[in-house]
Amino acid sequence: HVLILDFGSQVTQLIARRLREAGVYCEIFPFDAGEARIRAFDPKAVILSGGPASLTVETSPRAPQTVFELGVPILGICYGQQAMAAGLGGKVEPSDHQEFGRAFLKIEQPCRLYDGLWQPGERHQVWMSHGDRVEALPAGFRVVATSEGAPFAIFADEARDYYGLMFHPEVVHTPDGAKLLENFVKKVAGCRGDWTMAAFREQAIAAIRRQVGQGRVICGLSGGVDSSVAAVLIHEAIGEQLTCIFVDHGLLRQGEREEVERLFRGHYNIPLVARDASDLFLGKLAGVDDPEAKRKIIGATFIDVFEEEAAKVGGADFLAQGTLYPDVIESVSFAGGPSVTIKSHHNVGGLPERMRMQLVEPLRELFKDEVRALGRELGLPETLVGRHPFPGPGLAIRIPGPVTPEACAILRKADAIYLEEIRKAGLYDAIWQAFAVLLPVKTVGVMGDARTYDHVLALRAVTSTDGMTADSYPFDHSFLSMVATRIVNEVRGVNRVVYDVTSKPPGTIEWE
Ligand code: XMP
Repeated sequence: HVLILDFGSQVTQLIARRLREAGVYCEIFPFDAGEARIRAFDPKAVILSGGPASLTVETSPRAPQTVFELGVPILGICYGQQAMAAGLGGKVEPSDHQEFGRAFLKIEQPCRLYDGLWQPGERHQVWMSHGDRVEALPAGFRVVATSEGAPFAIFADEARDYYGLMFHPEVVHTPDGAKLLENFVKKVAGCRGDWTMAAFREQAIAAIRRQVGQGRVICGLSGGVDSSVAAVLIHEAIGEQLTCIFVDHGLLRQGEREEVERLFRGHYNIPLVARDASDLFLGKLAGVDDPEAKRKIIGATFIDVFEEEAAKVGGADFLAQGTLYPDVIESVSFAGGPSVTIKSHHNVGGLPERMRMQLVEPLRELFKDEVRALGRELGLPETLVGRHPFPGPGLAIRIPGPVTPEACAILRKADAIYLEEIRKAGLYDAIWQAFAVLLPVKTVGVMGDARTYDHVLALRAVTSTDGMTADSYPFDHSFLSMVATRIVNEVRGVNRVVYDVTSKPPGTIEWE
């Protein structure tokens, strides 16, 4: 496996994704993880990521000397390349020629790093992003590729297998970047590339058995991909020692609870407690219109109900959670100051602390797309594995203003029609998330010869890769008007439909 030391670049996770796509397991540590942790990880190669700092500043982060003592190949990317040069006795200076964005690399000499990929004399597009530059190379290095603004675009010490790149190979704007990274970990570092989902499944099952022994595990199911995959994996490892708990807060979409029951009880035969707590949740939400207050109420009530059900099951020592790798990576931040909370995204946070149980988190090394691949490996249906994200507070944050059972019922129907049509048109997989929002606004309409005075419904659909930024999905106008007609005709309580074309930022995906 490979160690990626993070210096705070926005795209460090992409390095990890590229390596894993090549079948090589890797982990990201912060640059100051410390000698003991780095040695214990025993990497076959080290990658030093990019970062926003400047090595010309005294206090900027440095590459730990440990990595140069491991005797393994090292690849430095942008800031990481400068940190490597500085750590080995080279000189980094501010540059008057900054280079950002697309640039062309000229390959000057053959090099093990791109053996079989690039030849001397060729030009290749890369994505540059640097201000400073290495002025004097450390002993043992030579320049093997240049670009207009970067005479040291790639430098190499093949005796030690140390390589420095002034560009980002991990982004798609460097078309050969993924292959270059694959070359580094496989040809240079000798990694085999046998980290597949089938292999992961076997390892994870063994690890769960080792951790749990004869103990009993409780797993909260949400109906989403992560908790479902975690539950099926754990069930495969320990069978009836697992009990799943599904809390229906009354804010689910149409048919969701039935689907979970059918799949887990019916298909997988996993012990499942499904508790209908909708009256409790809707009662507590009555009259509450502030989005963060809704989230807090739902989060706290969820914990209460979950605890109650867990106590009824009794005797569980472990709590399973579908925690993913992006939640686990310790972020390196130089921005200083606390970041602003836009939404609290409060779900079941606090459960583990409250319940004083040990955690079983079999997905904590995986990215979302890897969880999906594991779900397929486990035979979960495509409709579940490819599911759009659905927020923990559910429909409550898709009904601006106070949530009522009537509003939930209207929204559920409209949302189901919208999603049905998206699926029928074959668009579901091209969209990150699609849903309807029931507005607390009434407008006048006419149906037949009669006047109507009913709610406005907003439709939202976005494309995104991680939910952090998003674009509104460009439906054909005819598709939208067809959906609008169906909704107004079939859903009593809605007489007008609008489409939200706001991107994120400045909008957010959900309306609350
Ligand atoms: P926003 O609305 O912040 O959403 O652009 C980004 C992603 O997060 C989801 N989301 C939530 N998920 N609890 C959740 O589990 C929440 O309170 C919550 N709020 C938003 C949203 O659906 C989108 O996928």
